[in-house]
Amino acid sequence: SRHLLGIEDLSPAEITALLDLADAFVELNRRPDKKLSTLRGRTQINLFFEASTRTQSSFELAGKRLGADVMNMSVASSSVKKGETLIDTAVTLHAMHPDIIVVRHHAAGAVELLSRKVGCSVINAGDGAHEHPTQALLDALTIRRHTGRLEGLTVAICGDILHSRVARSNILLLNAMGARVRVVAPSTLLPAAIDRFGVEVHRDMRSGLRDADVVMMLRLQRERMDGSFVPSVREYFHFFGLDAAKLALAKPNALVMHPGPMNRGVEIDSDIADGPQSLIREQVEMGVAVRMAVLDALARNLPNR
Ligand code: CP
Repeated sequence: SRHLLGIEDLSPAEITALLDLADAFVELNRRPDKKLSTLRGRTQINLFFEASTRTQSSFELAGKRLGADVMNMSVASSSVKKGETLIDTAVTLHAMHPDIIVVRHHAAGAVELLSRKVGCSVINAGDGAHEHPTQALLDALTIRRHTGRLEGLTVAICGDILHSRVARSNILLLNAMGARVRVVAPSTLLPAAIDRFGVEVHRDMRSGLRDADVVMMLRLQRERMDGSFVPSVREYFHFFGLDAAKLALAKPNALVMHPGPMNRGVEIDSDIADGPQSLIREQVEMGVAVRMAVLDALARNLPNR
């Protein structure tokens, strides 16, 4: 396809191909000379309507390492602040002939809408609580490099499932690849339609983490809570924060993951985040490689100029 809007559009074979390609980019990124020319002459615009550290910087590095000209639109100082709409902003940028636009937006569905208004490739860098496909791909790559497979693994995704596009994309990818997915959260942080997600639902960390191969923690997304459920940090950490005692319920040497940004002492104990089972920094490294793989794959569908 011309776009990457969500994991739901990818087949297991396409996911495997992207992960295989990303594996090769991990090795390239560890070399002193990292530059390729796959995207030479191409223009990539990163258009982020929401804050980002990891996704925006890794998309910028990924584009540059493939030889693209990369422009980061600063939404904070753009005419969006003067009331210009998403579509008018996109159409304006498209008039400058980019080949790829990478978009993050607070509204679910906004990136798909934008993709229908512009003539170039569009990559979803996170849309509301809908999808964050490159996050799920980088998480899968991180897991696969440690276990050699995704099929048959038990993955516990814990915390604020309700507001999490990371959870949604991971559930879609892991289910497609034959993993067993559990979600672990208080009822107030589970979507009403969770029974249709094809996951095991646990409301208690003791059952949710038991014998898990992978424990994936999520941030409490307070900015998306309307005040109906903003738990006290102490209480939340007591019941749902990952500490040594809860991690001991998972398999020995279970992999600990977090997409970031982390709130230490809220959903994860600092010692666990920095401990020997934590892959959190490695996830960031995999993020650059996965985004290079996605850009490389889309570049093959770009029109020749
Ligand atoms: N995991 C993730 O998307 O991080 P950022 O919000 O910093 O991009």
